Amino acid sequence: MSSNSKPEVSPLAPPQPARPNNTNLAHLNPLPPSVFTLPQTAQLEALYTIIRDKETSRGDFLFYSDRIIRLLVEEGLNHLPVVARTVETPTGAVYNGVGFEGKICGVSILRAGEAMEAGLREVCRSVRIGKILIQRDEETTLPKLFYSKFPQDIASRYVLLLDPMLATGGSAMKAVEVLMEHGVPEERIIFINLIAAPEGLTTFCSRFPSLKVITGWIDQGLNDKAYIIPGLGDFGERRYCT
Ligand code: URA
Repeated sequence: MSSNSKPEVSPLAPPQPARPNNTNLAHLNPLPPSVFTLPQTAQLEALYTIIRDKETSRGDFLFYSDRIIRLLVEEGLNHLPVVARTVETPTGAVYNGVGFEGKICGVSILRAGEAMEAGLREVCRSVRIGKILIQRDEETTLPKLFYSKFPQDIASRYVLLLDPMLATGGSAMKAVEVLMEHGVPEERIIFINLIAAPEGLTTFCSRFPSLKVITGWIDQGLNDKAYIIPGLGDFGERRYCT
């Protein structure tokens, strides 16, 4: 084993502990208080290793990115407020539990964000999902809104904003602006993404400090084409092969 390669892990190795000192997080030290990462476990890293690998087939990319999306959506739901709820169990006992406080909806940033809709539907069966299309304006080079369609009562819902890659943060910030123009308060939006670049995360969080960001992994940075490094390439291309 060379000095800079990782130690070998036997197939029978015991579960690896979470890595609270994950070096990926050293890029953002301290992490903005509104940012939450998935537990940085060996299993999670194994999933990311598969989807980052350029040799991974489309089928495997779909399967393993869906697994991460499911974890992210579940983590997003952990951040919704709950209220006391008492039920009676079949034993006749009373259980003092909790229930979700408000209604939610998803909003996917097209086109890559659409890939996260199924993961949200798996856990929130009849959830309403809005769409937003933002692209770079060729004249101004700024992100421009091309299309949006939201549930009509979106202003009274918690919004899970879906986009797998947080690179510069331009599209995500424009999407939040549009949601706020539709009456959704910043603190009712939860932004869920698979991989974040520190640059985009910092810009996004300083602009919207009370909006929670749930990310699976924080990478090293951006290259000169605004791709996340090491990243996984173009998420939409990997997912849809077009
Ligand atoms: N969008 C992608 O799909 N990949 C990146 O690396 C950055 C933005």
